[in-house]
Amino acid sequence: MRRGRATFTSRFGFYMAAAGSAIGLGTFWRFPYIAGANGGGGFVFLYVFAVAIIGLSVLVAELMLGKVTRFNVVGALSYRSWVGKSKGWRFFGILGLAASFVILSYYTIISGWVIHFVVQAAAGKFTRSDMSSGIVIDQLMAKTILQILLVSVHLIVTMSIVGRGVQDGIEKSSRVFMPLLFLIVLFLLGHSMFLPGAREALRFMFYPDFSRLSTMGLIEAVGHALFSLSLGFGAMVAYGSYLRPEVHLPSEAVFVSVIDTILSLCAGMVIFPIVFTANVAPNAGPGLLFKTLPVIFGQFAMGYWVALAFFVCLYFAALSSSISLFEGLVAYFMDEKKLTRSGATILVSGISLVLAVFTVASETSVINVTIAGRTMLEVADQYLINWTLPVVALGVSLYTGFKVPDDIRRQEFIDEANPAAVKLYPTWVAMVRWFIPALIIFAMAIQVSWFIF
Ligand code: PFF
Repeated sequence: MRRGRATFTSRFGFYMAAAGSAIGLGTFWRFPYIAGANGGGGFVFLYVFAVAIIGLSVLVAELMLGKVTRFNVVGALSYRSWVGKSKGWRFFGILGLAASFVILSYYTIISGWVIHFVVQAAAGKFTRSDMSSGIVIDQLMAKTILQILLVSVHLIVTMSIVGRGVQDGIEKSSRVFMPLLFLIVLFLLGHSMFLPGAREALRFMFYPDFSRLSTMGLIEAVGHALFSLSLGFGAMVAYGSYLRPEVHLPSEAVFVSVIDTILSLCAGMVIFPIVFTANVAPNAGPGLLFKTLPVIFGQFAMGYWVALAFFVCLYFAALSSSISLFEGLVAYFMDEKKLTRSGATILVSGISLVLAVFTVASETSVINVTIAGRTMLEVADQYLINWTLPVVALGVSLYTGFKVPDDIRRQEFIDEANPAAVKLYPTWVAMVRWFIPALIIFAMAIQVSWFIF
């Protein structure tokens, strides 16, 4: 094990940072809209199942690769003592880093929108009587310079945190943002649960009506489970590399998966009651959050505060996830290209800015431009999440299952004080060696056959 790498100072610090990575725009924006588009309950059920079966096992694998090698995802996937000089496995790591850049190109844009929405909410825009659907987002999307400015603000905030390092930047900020985010979600839940549409919303979300589910829903559930736990990018490998040697991986992974799933469900329980109370369709697609919701806030007694709390919470979520996306890349440039932390942070911010500017400039409206009936966002999103992430997860699973020596895996997985881990070990190994690869290959084969025919 290499010495001299920074570590999280406490388990709580790691929990907050890892939960911060997992809980993001995917939780509050993507999950409700894909659950809505896939008919609700049946999809939610599948998603929870995918997190428990696939997400959790891959999360243990990613954290383990980082913790044992103390490298970024590319370094961990080409660890000399396990693969010798063979470079093939690195491909999966590089794919994960490429995915991080692609996602940063729109994650930063949407984070910029959220900053704008916070300001608009604070100015009372959403409770004004002349609010109409989509007006705020449409106006914003017509202003390229303003969007670039907002992206820059978000990048500067992210950069200033990541640049301070693991303990003083990432851990410290997550310890503040995440508890605040949980409090805001509690307030919003308290509000939503008393709305007239709450009953119908809960039924929509939790009654598993599988007749409304398609095979695509199944693939989306797996893709979103990976995305939601920040898997397939290298972020969790980097966070794993900052864990202290005595930390027990399965319990850390269970904590992160459970808290992320609870928050996704809470996000649905905050948003759908609002949507049902206002009598709008729950399947409005990516515009659900930025077009549909803002019009509704004005109809509530506490609308001003609900709108403000909602968008502040969304910003904390976006920021803590952006931080971990950054860190996965920064760790790569520091380990493999020998850059300093400041140099790596500036480089990643610069590339993200260029990508975001390019995206903003080429699409005056990321939501409205369509290709074959799908918005640009949906297309980027779908290719990345349903294709790239599963491929990286496939590589990580096979590598952990076949290349990491059994004694190392055992030592990391099994905690003598925890008999459940002893029993679960063979199941986990079978999962990463056979079950997860088989399932991912099957899902890919279905998608390829759709593509061809
Ligand atoms: N898990 C985040 C979300 O649900 O929004 C997305 C994400 C964040 C993916 C950070 C990857 C990552 F490194």
